[in-house]
Amino acid sequence: MTKFSRKIRNYIITGVLKFSFMLKLKRIPVLPNVIDLEPTNLCNLKCSHCPNPYWVRKKKNLRLDQFEYIVRQLPNLMYIKLQGIGEPFLNPELFEMIRKAEDFGIDVGLTTNGMVYNDKIRDGMQKIKKMKITVSVDALSNDVVQILRRGSHIDTLKKNIASLREDSKFTCNDFSFWSVITKDNIHGLLSIIMFGKSVDVNSISFQMFLNDWSSEQIKNIIVDQKIEDIYDYQSEIEEAKIMANENKVQLNVVTQNYYTRNNKCIWPYTRIFIDVDGNVVPCCIISDAAVITMGNVFEQPLQEIWNSEKYIQFREDIKTHNLRDYCKNCYSE
Ligand SMILES: C[S@@+](CC[C@H](N)C(=O)[O-])C[C@H]1O[C@@H](n2cnc3c(N)ncnc32)[C@H](O)[C@@H]1O
Ligand code: SF4
Ligand code: SF4
Repeated sequence: MTKFSRKIRNYIITGVLKFSFMLKLKRIPVLPNVIDLEPTNLCNLKCSHCPNPYWVRKKKNLRLDQFEYIVRQLPNLMYIKLQGIGEPFLNPELFEMIRKAEDFGIDVGLTTNGMVYNDKIRDGMQKIKKMKITVSVDALSNDVVQILRRGSHIDTLKKNIASLREDSKFTCNDFSFWSVITKDNIHGLLSIIMFGKSVDVNSISFQMFLNDWSSEQIKNIIVDQKIEDIYDYQSEIEEAKIMANENKVQLNVVTQNYYTRNNKCIWPYTRIFIDVDGNVVPCCIISDAAVITMGNVFEQPLQEIWNSEKYIQFREDIKTHNLRDYCKNCYSE
């Protein structure tokens, strides 16, 4: 299939998915063209806001053959966010996966903690055609990263980001920072902007809310860090916006995008999250198959899972506003 005909097909598939959402169909006639796929749940850091360090499940990498098995089940696929709850660069087959995706004409993006960088990654970076890279940069002072992103070290982080930027300058079509803002790093926003400028980022996003990952256990661990509950951050954000503007850095401030009765969640109609074990989870806000799983791609065809009774019921619950507890946090009414 030529690039042009793929584009046309994607246009049609996107239209069908959007239409299915608008009509709140129970059965979706086409499979998603965008997915989140977790290449690993191994991680080298222990961030205080992330469930990964607290999980008791087996830590492992997705294998290349498993990756291909999943991708082959999704004929409409145009984009894979190759990331879940783990550090993507720890998977030794990551670049083979990206190249495989390229063979299928699929674009790839990922988020990295910036604390894994070596010759193999450098080599891989230079061989791929194009990808979107986001680096999580929550702070640039060692005192603060030791609270938020335990195991990270600022000198190494900065060095790795500079190398990653340089090595991907011909292959990365979007190089951005993502910062989760808590009470601990709210005073370090300007240094993130200036560092972003120094490595020529395409954009920086400040996420002003914490995900509780729909789990009671995690909710209890991260709850006291939620900045929106304890601190009026407007003046820091205004200052950051001015500095970004003066330095021509594109800054996005992401506040919680609450769904409402009239603006319902789109995920169950258009997109899926697949974890490293092949479990299909409704979205990346949940990410955790222990909370809910729709089926397993290694045990059942994805086509069947996507229109299974379980998925149909899930869509019905979203449509009728009979929200599960783990969905209630995404809604303001
Ligand atoms: C789960 S990590 C996986 C990728 C990689 N390990 C990293 O840290 O960039 C993806 C993003 O989720 C963010 N994150 C982790 N816990 C979060 C939480 N409770 N609320 C919001 N974002 C969170 C991380 O800071 C990171 O930017
Ligand atoms: S946020 Fe990323 S780096 Fe931090 S523990 Fe979670 S998966 Fe690891
Ligand atoms: S409403 Fe439910 S399915 Fe939708 S993003 Fe939130 S947790 Fe996920």
